[in-house]
Amino acid sequence: MKNLGILISGRGSNMESILKAIAKKKIPITPSIVISNRPDAKGLKIAEKLGVKTEVVESKGFKGTRWDYDQEIIRVLKKHGVSQKNGLVCLAGFMRIISPEFVKKYKNRIINIHPALLPSFPGLDSQRQALEYGSKYSGCTVHFVNAGMDTGPIIIQAVVKIKEDDTEESLSKRILKEEHKIYPKAVSLFAQDKIKVQGRKTIISV
Ligand code: GRF
Repeated sequence: MKNLGILISGRGSNMESILKAIAKKKIPITPSIVISNRPDAKGLKIAEKLGVKTEVVESKGFKGTRWDYDQEIIRVLKKHGVSQKNGLVCLAGFMRIISPEFVKKYKNRIINIHPALLPSFPGLDSQRQALEYGSKYSGCTVHFVNAGMDTGPIIIQAVVKIKEDDTEESLSKRILKEEHKIYPKAVSLFAQDKIKVQGRKTIISV
């Protein structure tokens, strides 16, 4: 079985959906460690309640380069068995850009969830971007992390219709509901070796 490391910065609702799916035996993977860059991340308490180990690698005031910081993260991941050979790293609201060196070391082993239909609206405040643009549909995307910003091969997407009276809050809420469905699904596919990466594309075997 593969080992899962989840990186968070805050609320941790996506992490929670993954950990609960694992607890219900819906995903064949070991939840090895949850790491936060912020000591006050709410998700840390949720992970502890669910019986998953947590560690904090504080980024505020960290002296060193981005890669120095990421090496600390890698050290903690490896300590808990989340290796380059047998690990999966899920970014779940981790509010930091990952260094290219980290991406390279864990090639096609780091995945992220983004609250828009990529390649539309990468970066921050995607729900607001979609509303301001006047999109009729948005959604969410689980994708592999590459050296770019939200540009890696797409694994799963879910579509959410935008209503005329939507606010950033109401749209975010409906998108989040879909995030909680597709992220555990993507982790499950990875855990079962059902995702092949071919260039920019992923081929999913069912
Ligand atoms: C989610 O909207 C996710 O798509 C984005 O950050 C948010 C994290 O929320 N990357 P949570 O911490 O999982 O509740």
